[in-house]
Amino acid sequence: MRPNSYLLQLFLTLFLLLGLSKPDPDPLQDYCVADTKTPKLPLFLNGVPCIDPKQASSSHFATSALSKPGNTSANMFGFSVTLTTTINLPGLNTMGLTLARIDIAADGIVPPHWHPRASEVTTCLQGALLVGFVDNLDRLFTQQLRAGESFVFPKGLIHFLSNLDSSKPALAVSGFNSQNPGGQIASVVSFTSKPAIPDEILKKAFKINGQDVTKMRRNLGG
Ligand SMILES: *[C@@H]1O[C@H](CO)[C@@H](O)[C@H](O)[C@H]1NC(C)=O
Repeated sequence: MRPNSYLLQLFLTLFLLLGLSKPDPDPLQDYCVADTKTPKLPLFLNGVPCIDPKQASSSHFATSALSKPGNTSANMFGFSVTLTTTINLPGLNTMGLTLARIDIAADGIVPPHWHPRASEVTTCLQGALLVGFVDNLDRLFTQQLRAGESFVFPKGLIHFLSNLDSSKPALAVSGFNSQNPGGQIASVVSFTSKPAIPDEILKKAFKINGQDVTKMRRNLGG
């Protein structure tokens, strides 16, 4: 290869990488308050249609959606995530932001998971958390958080939160740089997808036998 084709390749790679790590697109208007009233259009957009800006009011930019604790007993891992959305906070539409309230029961965890479209910064508000993520070199970065302390989970990397206290619940709030961060829990997506990932794949991937696959599916509610 000629030296300038190397250069071209380098630029193309950089360009691709930068493109992949971009946050949500910038809004073209001051705001685009989500239209939560008009019946859903037979139209699929990258975002949500907005109301006439003249109809926007302060309440569109406010929410109490995160004021109440989530029900951690309804979840097999003992956590509950409450998110701001374009429904409960219409003014958020096109801003590239989401806020999450994360309640974790005593001894509960948010199991290893990732968000394909957002980095996350989490602040512990109550209790004590062990948090961590693994990078692409398989290095684990962890930290114990007390109330008022924060930690960053870089975009797309597998991470977890765990309540260090076996007698008290913990509370955290997280910000995401996407209005649709997405989220997949590694164990749950592997063993409870519909249709299921073939047993043979799971046996080889996790170095387990057929009984283990059946047991893990059952344990995870699959
Ligand atoms: C929380 O979830 C549990 C289990 O699903 C249910 O029995 C309980 O009634 C729920 N509590 C509230 C306050 O909704």
